[in-house]
Parts: sequence; C-alpha cells; structure tokens
Amino acid sequence: MTEQSPALDNLLTESRTFPPSEAFSAQANATADFYAEADADREAFWAKQAERLHWETKWSQVLDWTNAPFAKWFVGGKLNVAYNCVDRHVDSGHGDQVAIHWVGEPGDSRDITYAQLKDEVSKAANALESLGLEAGDRVAIQMPMVPEAIVAMLACARIGVLHSVVFGGFSPTALRSRVDDQAARIVITTDGQYRRGKAAPMKANVDEALEGAESVEKVIVVRRTGEEVPITEGRDIWWHELVDGQSAEHAPQAFDSEHPLFILYTSGTTGKPKGILHTSGGYLTQAAYTHHNVFDHKAGEDVYWCTADIGWITGHTYIVYGPLANRTTQVVYEGTPNTPHEGRHWEIVQQHKVSIYYTAPTLIRTFMKWGNEIPQKYDLSSLRVLGSVGEPINPEAWIWYRENVGANSAPIVDTWWQTETGGIMISPLPGVTATKPGSAQKALPGISAKVVDDQGVEVGKGGGGYLVLDKPWPGMLRGIWGDEQRFRETYWSRFADQGYYFAGDGAKYDADGDVWLLGRVDDVMNVSGHRISTTEVESALVSHPTVAEAAVVGATDPTTGQGIVAFVILRGNAVDGGDEAVQELRNHVAKEIGPIAKPRQILVVQELPKTRSGKIMRRLLRDVAENRQVGDVTTLADSSVMDLISSGLKSGK
Ligand code: PRX
Repeated sequence: MTEQSPALDNLLTESRTFPPSEAFSAQANATADFYAEADADREAFWAKQAERLHWETKWSQVLDWTNAPFAKWFVGGKLNVAYNCVDRHVDSGHGDQVAIHWVGEPGDSRDITYAQLKDEVSKAANALESLGLEAGDRVAIQMPMVPEAIVAMLACARIGVLHSVVFGGFSPTALRSRVDDQAARIVITTDGQYRRGKAAPMKANVDEALEGAESVEKVIVVRRTGEEVPITEGRDIWWHELVDGQSAEHAPQAFDSEHPLFILYTSGTTGKPKGILHTSGGYLTQAAYTHHNVFDHKAGEDVYWCTADIGWITGHTYIVYGPLANRTTQVVYEGTPNTPHEGRHWEIVQQHKVSIYYTAPTLIRTFMKWGNEIPQKYDLSSLRVLGSVGEPINPEAWIWYRENVGANSAPIVDTWWQTETGGIMISPLPGVTATKPGSAQKALPGISAKVVDDQGVEVGKGGGGYLVLDKPWPGMLRGIWGDEQRFRETYWSRFADQGYYFAGDGAKYDADGDVWLLGRVDDVMNVSGHRISTTEVESALVSHPTVAEAAVVGATDPTTGQGIVAFVILRGNAVDGGDEAVQELRNHVAKEIGPIAKPRQILVVQELPKTRSGKIMRRLLRDVAENRQVGDVTTLADSSVMDLISSGLKSGK
C-alpha cells in the first residue's frame, strides 16, 4: 500500500479482548457453527437464510454467477419486499405490535403499529399508482426523518418503483444531478425540517433543484413544519391531500427476485456520484439475516435504534428493510443528538427501553467530548447490544462506548460494509466472538473477504494490504445506474485476474488472523462516516471564479475521523487570500455539494505538488495538513514545491 491511512495510528493500543458472557451466548441467535455450516455449502446456507422471507414463488437456483460481475440471486423467485416488511407481520397476528416509536425533535411523537404501517403504505402505494407510476419508474425522495419517508420508500417497493433517497443535507445542485441521472418522475419532500431546535426549509431546496428538470412530473410535499411554501400549480401536491383519502387496501404484486429495489448515490473517485443499484430478494435476505444475527434481534422483545439517516445506506438496510423484515420495534428519531440537550439520545433510550443501539464512531467521540456525566444521568440498563458503523472505530472510543453506554457488558459489534455491499459483511457475532476494540474481525458466515497484496495474493497473519471480497454475496450491488463500464472499472478491474471485488479500503490481519480496517486507499474521504470524494470537493472549488486550481485531502480529525483540508491556488487577479475569501470558498462548497462537504480548512498556496505526469501528490499535502514532516518528494516534477508551500504557510501567505 502506498498511502497509509490515518487510522493506523490508533491500532493495537488496546490489547484486551472481551469474550461474551455465558448468559448472552446461551440466548444468542448466532452460534459458532454457522461458520462451518456456511463454509461447507455457501449456497445452501444462503438458501436457508432466504427462508426467513415470504416468497410468492420459490427460486429455482440460489446463485447464477455465469455473467459475473452481474450476480443473480434466488433466480426465478418472486416476492414483494413491502409485503415482507409489513403485511406479513399483520397476517401472522402482530398487527398491534409497534413498528416505529417515532420521536420528533421538538418533542412530538408518534407510535405506529404494523397494522397502521400497512394501511399507510397501502394508501401511499395507491396514491403513487394514481399518478401513473409503474414498476421500474424512479422516485427521488429528499426528506428528514419523518415516518412518511419510510412509508414512501415502502410504497415504492410495494409497486416495484425504484426509490432514490437523497440525504436532506445535499444541495440543490447535488439533488438535481441525482434526479437527472435516473430521470426521476416524482420527487417526494417535506415543507421543512427541524434541525437544532429550529424549522429549516426543505421544499425550497427541491424547488431550486428542479428548475427546468425535465423528467419530474410531480412533487409530493409532506407537511412537517407548517411553514408557508410556494406551490407550483400542476406540479406540486400535498401528501395529505393525495394519500389520506386513498383506500387502505392494496394488493401487493410479487416481483422477480432481481427486480430493482432502489438506487442510492455515493461518492466515487471522480466528481460524479455513482448510482448504486440494489435489487430485491438477495438484498432483503442479507438485510434480514445480518440484522437478526449481528444485533441478536428478538422480534417482539427488543427495542432497536439505529441512529443513521435514511439518506444513507445504513438507514436503508438497518432502519427500513432489515428491521422491518424481522418485525422489529424500533425508535426513529428526527433530530440532532444535542437538541434540546446533550443527553437526548440517552433520554430516548431510557424512555423507550432501547435494547439494541447502532451508531457511528464520530457520534461516540462527540459523546466522549460532551462528558461521561451525561450518559450517567440516565438509566441505560436496557441496552444489551451496541453497534458501530461508518469508519474505523478507535480503541479509545470503543472502550468508552463499552464502559459508559454498555455498562461494561453489552457486546459491541463493529460492522464493516458499504453502500455497494448492501448489508454488513465483516463483524463480530455477539454471543460468539470475543471482541477486540478497533477490529471488525471476521467476515460473517456466508461472506468471504480477504486482505491481499498488490498482486492479489492473500497476505499472511500480521500482513497488510487491500480488502477484497472474493465471492459473490446476496446483497451485492448489481451495477451503477446507467454506467456498466464504470461498474466494471471501479470494482472489478483492480483484481480482474482473480475476479475479486475491490472495496477501496486498506486492511490488515493481526496475529490471530482478525481483520482491521485501515480506511480508504483511494481518493475518497470519510468525514463523520460520510463518503466524500476529493475530486467532488475540488470540482466545487474550481467552479468558484477566484480559484485557479485546488487539491483536497482528508486529514485525521479527532471527532469526525477525517476533516476536509483544501489547498487552493487563486487566480492572478484574486490576490486576496484572506479570511473572508476563504470563508466565501467554504460556503461555496457547502452550497455546491452540501454542508457535510464544507472544508475544515482552506490553505491558499502558490503551487501544488505534482508528479511529472501531472498527478497531484495528495500524500504530501496530507503530511502538511496533519503537521507531519513531509515525506518522500523525489517523484515530484519540482521538488522545491513542498518547501514553497510549507514556508508560505508559515509566513501566512
Ligand atoms: O471505508 C469504509 C468505511 O465506510 C466506507 C463505506 O461508506 P458508505 O458506502 O457510505 O457506507 C457506510 C455505512 C455502511 C467503507 O469503504 N467503513 C464503513 N464501516 C466501517 C468502515 N471502516 C472501518 N470500519 C467500519 N466498521
């Protein structure tokens, strides 16, 4: 590996392991023999997992990999994803079980049972059909964490329409490019959203995005904040006017196992986000299997809470599809974790007796910063499994989580996966694995992952290299929307000879053969668990009239994992590189992409370090951004450039 990850600094500073208690193991869903069972016959193992779902028509073949890298799972099988997540639980006599304890940021709340969810989803499905939507069409959703967002996703799934959820924090430009790429016919949004105790507009964002958007016929608006919003006649419809009067009867049609379920855009190494395509049967099987075993979920007993936003894959798989397929009672929280106070999450855990809690390292580190005394004020004794996702968790944060949230006993599952993998791939199994702070440890039963060197040869214990997935898995992406070439190049070309999926992450094995994730090895940054490409931010910067050139790196950040640091060369006449100009550029990036992409720091420089072929050497810039001694400069076209940058920064130029 040429580019070492910042996460490496954190490794192996904690050597304790934490075996599960006997009591936990005795009741755990997963058992150690799963590994051997899956190894003995992977397809039989997955077929057994698929039995968790209701299939209208059973499959005739578990896996068809003849057209690799395009997999087909549960070939010939037919199912309705929404029926599996909702109706089937009502049909089995659990209609009165709460599906969602929804908690609004301002303090309002709603409990929605499976029977009510079935009615809501059916009405919404009827509503979408009344607008002429048909299976295969696309609907874009930009909404805060309100129940209607989940209802909208399930309604799409029910009628075979692909949803594409766009994170609420994305700018109009970002939303527009996603709407155009998939030619969405409908956009669903809300009037506004509550963030940090205030109502903020949301539809205004959508209106700006959709100016002149040709594919969009209707915009459906959920009323959330009640603020005045302009209505475009003929295009905009209120959700309550469209949906409330519909029939609560809707017959779910069974779709092919490979029928597309959704598109979710994620950052790649170029400026253009990739529309990751997921399909139905395999995805739902992996979502349900992993949710059941990794979180040890017990239907009707546990109260589960995944703190992600539905705008990300974690929200798709571990708020909507996995938990609902498993008849989970879950908390869905609308707002920020410190509104109105820094104990908000713990207050919710206490109130709803949350037993499984799944969050991101960046939030754990934020809780650490806020202080141990905050969780201590609440009764967290209901918590029995804790999860982490999105970036490597440093051992210090892991231990803090265990001690302050998990009462020194709840197993912590550090789950590695990606938008592309659809579901969890590498994780301890609670009740089985002796956990290690900072390591995701082992590919789940049925999943195969390896750490390989540059040549694709597996490294030995203690060795480091690239993480690959060497066997197809049910929840794997089925392509990039409209771009087969890019799909092949991005994931399948790096180790084409071996046919491995290249994840883009660096990893190593420890002496026991457990996997430690080391962060991205490509030009993708991970800021608070969100993927942002350096090129995307660079494109946003150079779209500003004062910027001639820009290079962006992710620098280690104690709270967000990585922080965005940009180096810019200003145009000749824009000599003023003062605070105001820098602030203006930071805001410009937020406007172009969204606030999550706002650089932490922008440094105005005279030159950028480039190789003779003109490639920017980000490794050197990262050294500067992290205040390290600058590394090897011998491949630079002009080796004095780094001196110029460093001295210019010191003198404040
Ligand atoms: O770098 C890895 C990191 O997040 C990337 C995937 O990002 P995204 O598609 O947005 O999905 C995030 C939620 C699944 C990976 O390539 N990542 C995710 N989970 C972990 C992780 N890195 C280390 N440890 C994890 N548990």
